[in-house]
Amino acid sequence: MSQVVLLESKKRLIQTLMQRSILLPPAFIQKLDESSISKLISRLDDSSLPPVSSSSELLQVLRPDWTTQKSIQQQSSSAVPQSQSSPSSFDPYKAGSPCPGRSHPHPVAVDVDLGDAGDRQRARMESGEFKVRVVSDYNEKPKKREMTDFVAYFNARYKALEGILRGRSELSGVISISRVLQKKGKEKISIIGMVMEKTVTPNTQSVILSLEDPTGTVRVLFSKKNPDIYAAVKDVCEDEVVGVIGSTGGSSDNPIIFGNNLLVPDVPLTKELKKAPMDHPGYAAFISDIHVGSKQFMEDNFLKMVHWLKGTAGNEAQRALASQVKYLFIGGDLVDGVGIYPGQEEDLAIKDIYVQYQRVSELIAQLPESIKIIMIPGNHDAMRLNEPQPSLYKDICKPVWDLPNAMLVSNPTVVNIHGNESFGGFDVLMYHGYSFDYYVANVESIRTNGGYDRADLIMKYLLQRRHLAPAHTSTPYIPDSARDPLIISNVPDFFLTGHIHRTRVSSYRNVTLINGGCWQDITAFQIKTGHTPEPCRVSLMDLHSREVRLLRF
Ligand SMILES: [Fe+2]
Ligand SMILES: [Fe+2]
Repeated sequence: MSQVVLLESKKRLIQTLMQRSILLPPAFIQKLDESSISKLISRLDDSSLPPVSSSSELLQVLRPDWTTQKSIQQQSSSAVPQSQSSPSSFDPYKAGSPCPGRSHPHPVAVDVDLGDAGDRQRARMESGEFKVRVVSDYNEKPKKREMTDFVAYFNARYKALEGILRGRSELSGVISISRVLQKKGKEKISIIGMVMEKTVTPNTQSVILSLEDPTGTVRVLFSKKNPDIYAAVKDVCEDEVVGVIGSTGGSSDNPIIFGNNLLVPDVPLTKELKKAPMDHPGYAAFISDIHVGSKQFMEDNFLKMVHWLKGTAGNEAQRALASQVKYLFIGGDLVDGVGIYPGQEEDLAIKDIYVQYQRVSELIAQLPESIKIIMIPGNHDAMRLNEPQPSLYKDICKPVWDLPNAMLVSNPTVVNIHGNESFGGFDVLMYHGYSFDYYVANVESIRTNGGYDRADLIMKYLLQRRHLAPAHTSTPYIPDSARDPLIISNVPDFFLTGHIHRTRVSSYRNVTLINGGCWQDITAFQIKTGHTPEPCRVSLMDLHSREVRLLRF
């Protein structure tokens, strides 16, 4: 390829990027070869795919292809189990960024058939004195998604959250937006709508929310006169569903509502603090983000925890405590993955994804079989990024699937644990937390009160919204036309997350909030971004007293 042709190709790429307002560093473009340029231009010009909106999204096309990578790994390592079939649904657009970090790949549909292995696993987990039962996880058959699916998805979300809001007594007199628009003069009203836009007026700093319901759209203005309401409105994110109490105003050409109160779906104040009965004691341990395969994975510390749970480490009291642990929850990012971010190879001690999962299984297999282990995937796992993420693929993660006391479920998922004839058990909502980066960056009360150090504020925010990623851009997702699987339909007893690598335990209206921390030492990416992880901590809950202890290993 002559230099002249290459130069012309680069010019064409730059023009195409400018037309789409996407920036790539000139030094990066300088290094591109003809093949990479052609891949980038093809992606930008491909009208059959959703338009690219960011440079990180565009650069996914230059990531190594999964199928190719897999065949290379199979040739290079006889230690790994041979795959039965490739993950047909893998899409290179799904690859993400380091944890924590962001990118917004395109929604894709994938096969999530659990088959016999899933049935056997679940039957084992539901048996015995200490039961684990799946309440809700995502196991949909593959389906091509159309634009109409997005519309149906948002309608389903609106309907579900509107239903929760209508349960609030303050909103008993709710009317449709079209009826509000017919009103003349000043009248007290209450409405429920999805936030289409949030703006701040330059002079008075009033916040204007554009709300939409199936009948119309209206603007609602919140002034600074009530500081509490104003602070709550400033925290509102686009696409969440809220209730508003206010009064009509403006003109027929330019109607507006003056907002007096803002209501979110929230957790009812009547949420019960469930406790396991005296005759059915037990402990649950919560961890997250193991990152096996990373050079920074703190394996010695992880093994200390394993030895403690086996009863081969610790003093008498500590060993007695370990013997009561019946459940271990792992909140995703079991491995560091391969090809997750540019240059990751330099950070990997294990460069083969199969060997990474093999090592996970070797570590977890050392735990007593009496402990039931529940695992969800995260953004570093060999899995699509779009949420809900199905349970880990059986072929890539076969050694983990084969563990007799493990259960692999989707992200998010709800499982019920510890139930018996006289006790209904605890509902545990598990979500890796890929949307958290958005809320740290965009919600003022979280950003100014600790940001990444305050996973509890993020979890509380999401519980109040009854949605794990209310803002459309906060996580890549699958637009399920029948329902929105990221809605928190039923309030859980425990809410477990991970992703931000800092342990946090808190409570909101009798829901225990736990971020599982990590087992990975600080990475170069985290040093660059000023993020300080807190590795090697286990949150241990006494299911009878609901007290949580933090153990360091
Ligand atoms: Fe992580
Ligand atoms: Fe993560």
